[in-house]
Amino acid sequence: MTPIFQTSTYVQEAPGKHHGYEYARTQNPTRTVLQNNIAALENGKHGLCFSSGMAATDAIARLFVPGDEIICTNDLYGGTYRLFTKVFEKYGLRFHFVPMHNIHNINKHISAKTRMIWVETPTNPLMHIIDIKGAAAIARQCNALLVVDNTFASPYLQNPLDTGADIVMHSATKYIGGHSDAVMGMLVTNSDNLHEQLKFLQNACGAVPGPQDCFLMLRGIKTLHIRMQRHCENAKKVAVFLTSHPKVEKVFYPGLTSHPNHDIAKKQMKDFGGMLSFTLKGDNMEDALKVLSGTKLFSLAESLGGVESLIGHPATMTHASIPREERIKNGLKDTLIRLSVGIEDIDDLIDDLNKAIG
Ligand SMILES: Cc1ncc(COP(=O)(O)O)c(C=O)c1O
Repeated sequence: MTPIFQTSTYVQEAPGKHHGYEYARTQNPTRTVLQNNIAALENGKHGLCFSSGMAATDAIARLFVPGDEIICTNDLYGGTYRLFTKVFEKYGLRFHFVPMHNIHNINKHISAKTRMIWVETPTNPLMHIIDIKGAAAIARQCNALLVVDNTFASPYLQNPLDTGADIVMHSATKYIGGHSDAVMGMLVTNSDNLHEQLKFLQNACGAVPGPQDCFLMLRGIKTLHIRMQRHCENAKKVAVFLTSHPKVEKVFYPGLTSHPNHDIAKKQMKDFGGMLSFTLKGDNMEDALKVLSGTKLFSLAESLGGVESLIGHPATMTHASIPREERIKNGLKDTLIRLSVGIEDIDDLIDDLNKAIG
């Protein structure tokens, strides 16, 4: 197994003469192995690890200068929305939040100052699928970077660098780690130039993960493919069950043929993932809250991508930082429930939901 180099510094042979490792914020051998590992998983040349997904996103945003414009998916992870609007708008970056399930909407916001297109697909929590190849073509035309937040799909289901993305971002906290026991972010790129800039920021700003967490990620990755297969298999069955439930209004899962972006999902993903959302009939938030506190196997918690199933309420949990008006406008209703379907026995999972929905 890769050793855990639990050290903050490295003994040098002579001043200026060392073995490639000087200080642990800059480099750590356990981290190096993980960075090479994630680069390989994403078919990329360079990988970089950060202390959280948000720290990885923060490093990307620091590539830009006041006046630069960024076009983002509108129903993106609430923390990304918060970082962009509450932190980076203060430093003069300008963000446009655009529904990208029709990628031509991106064109309406392009200007001479557009520097980056930020795509999250599948989106969180409405499971829209964005055409990565199409977004890459638009980004190339306007000389902007295309960044894909690949957290929901994981490198097992899609590799955005292969279809034209410049940087892939991961909250490795989720499927990559897979066991809900560590927080981490990752970036992968094929560009030497981008890698140099991001590596500089990783060291200069210092949001690096510790070696113990790097070890846990490496161990999690060993079973990524098997976990993902079961996540997908179980989520598909849960989606079918929910679709036929009389109290369920709508199921958001890209694997359903009724999903508006099903064809794109089929083209760009190996399978449809372990995440899904559904709304209950009516507009009563209380009904949703009853389901959320009624499950026993689905634990009520933020986060996703672990082997154990989680249930969440975006309106009051992950997406509470988005103003209600903005939320509803984007289709994120008060009765929306999000599931991270784990790898447990499928009959137990369906039984648990059936009892909770009533
Ligand atoms: C899609 C997505 N991107 C980014 C993040 C942020 O990652 P982290 O929590 O590791 O900082 C999350 C966290 O939930 C996420 O779901």
